[in-house]
Amino acid sequence: MSSATEQAREATGTTDAPLLAVENVEVRYGVSLAVRGVSFEVPENGAVALLGPNGAGKTSLIRAISGLLDVHHGAVRNGDIRLAGRSIRGLRADKIVSAGVAQVPEGRLIFGALSVEENLRVGSSARKTPGADDTLAQVYDLFPVLGERRARQAGWLSGGEQQMLAIGRALMAGPRLLLLDEVSLGLAPKVIEDIFERLAGVRRLGTSMLLVEQNARVALGFADYGYILESGRIVLEGPSAKLRDDEAVRRSYLGIRTDAADHGFAQGKHYRRRRRWLS
Ligand SMILES: Nc1ncnc2c1ncn2[C@@H]1O[C@H](COP(=O)(O)OP(=O)(O)OP(=O)(O)O)[C@@H](O)[C@H]1O
Ligand SMILES: [Mg+2]
Repeated sequence: MSSATEQAREATGTTDAPLLAVENVEVRYGVSLAVRGVSFEVPENGAVALLGPNGAGKTSLIRAISGLLDVHHGAVRNGDIRLAGRSIRGLRADKIVSAGVAQVPEGRLIFGALSVEENLRVGSSARKTPGADDTLAQVYDLFPVLGERRARQAGWLSGGEQQMLAIGRALMAGPRLLLLDEVSLGLAPKVIEDIFERLAGVRRLGTSMLLVEQNARVALGFADYGYILESGRIVLEGPSAKLRDDEAVRRSYLGIRTDAADHGFAQGKHYRRRRRWLS
């Protein structure tokens, strides 16, 4: 690329690089290796799912991206994490939020003693761009129940409302990329459906998403592309429609019994090497 093109891209903030590129990342907690050289991408305007069983390393990857590993006594020991081509590995968590990445953490972690609106305002503290009041209005538009309960202590909300609050709080940072860790966990199917419909609305407004889920059905219904992580490694990836049709995914993740020979990757027989579909 010519330096003139590079300068023009620099000036306009555009780039050919994917919005998020995770490159050969290794995560350790002390001596224990939780993520073993993982690479994946989230394109601009994309929704990508990261699936896998308990302990696969999904949350560790989310923490690696959001800069919150050190809080959990972990660290990225290898590889790189790039946002629109620029490395964010090793940046402080608030700088990563300012760069455009917001996280909806596993377990929601809302502040139960604060009001709904105070929780939302906390979300805008690391925001670099102006317009927090406009975003607050958008969040209330998206989740009217939060507007109705704006003065109520967040601890009194239902599980679904608390999840909406956690999403709203992340949106208050004005992110380009939203990281969603187990949004569906513990919620009734109707509530999950409602939340994902609203997330589709957020996506239409231009926010890309990386969602971590144990609920493969929901995740593959929402995302365009998925990666399956087992024991810290990606064992399978592909467009969501292909993953939904895959025999092993159907058996291991969608709970659908098939007559095909036993080839689930839980048994590790056929998926030691990463398979990739091109489409
Ligand atoms: N703070 C920590 N200290 C030590 N080990 C950890 C810590 N957090 C996670 N681990 C370990 O790292 C591995 C990956 O855990 P992680 O929480 O990333 O998995 P996960 O895919 O998010 O699982 P789940 O579906 O249960 O949320 C596991 O072996 C786990 O025990
Ligand atoms: Mg997790």
